[in-house]
Amino acid sequence: MHLILMGPQGSGKGTQAGRLAPRLGLVLVATGDLFRRAIAAETALGHQIKAAYDRGELISDDLTVALVEEKLDELSAERALGTGVAGALYDGFPRTRLQADALDAALTRREEAISTVIQIDVPRQTLVNRLAGRRVCTICDTVYHIEFNPPREEGVCDRCGGEVRQRPDDTPAAIEKRLDLYELETAPLLAHYRDRGLMAVVNGVQAIDLVTRDIERAVKGTATTR
Ligand code: AP5
Ligand code: MG
Repeated sequence: MHLILMGPQGSGKGTQAGRLAPRLGLVLVATGDLFRRAIAAETALGHQIKAAYDRGELISDDLTVALVEEKLDELSAERALGTGVAGALYDGFPRTRLQADALDAALTRREEAISTVIQIDVPRQTLVNRLAGRRVCTICDTVYHIEFNPPREEGVCDRCGGEVRQRPDDTPAAIEKRLDLYELETAPLLAHYRDRGLMAVVNGVQAIDLVTRDIERAVKGTATTR
């Protein structure tokens, strides 16, 4: 199964991906998390992307696709070992038409295909409030919100005890930039997947548990067996 979560910044992709990946037995491919890790580890990739990342700009398609291909190779290797992984869950990828075409090609080469695309639907004014109050674990990427979903102890991750902090791109200017880029580059992909009969829309303005429930229902209703 290859399941894509789509939706604007703050719609809850990361929140839902963290819950759904273990429940559905999928490997998580979250490009934003991978980029944040590279920046924190000060790798060559991290140095290359930091400035664009902090401004809320997209990282180049070449770098992003290469990173995803690497994850798909890891997935193939895990499957070859018979680990029982059912497929991949994509959070924040693809974001451009070029990335969408590259994912199709990468999956076709592996004799696989996208099973379902979930659009998490949330209006723009709600997104800005969510992003302003977001906090993220610097170790395991678990997502919190100071009001809607706080950690039990302020600044400490419930799951791993890591430090919970604001993201550098959750400034008002970078938030506006990312939301504009979503409209321009990513929203057109929704029609692309809808036309292929792969899309299900889920209401993202309800309690986190209910969003998870609706996504699981949609996956069961639409996923092909590939
Ligand atoms: P990325 O990390 O993917 O960030 P994003 O797209 O900006 O999306 P967000 O993580 O902001 O939103 P989300 O939908 O995950 O919401 P969340 O669950 O956190 O990308 C960051 C950067 O990396 C990009 O700007 C770019 O530079 C680069 N990048 C990544 N992928 C790329 C690609 N493919 N190509 C090129 N560049 C790429 O939730 C938000 C808040 O709301 C949280 O506080 C949460 O607790 C709260 N919340 C969630 N659900 C609910 C709910 N139901 N009710 C109330 N609160 C909720
Ligand atoms: Mg996210």
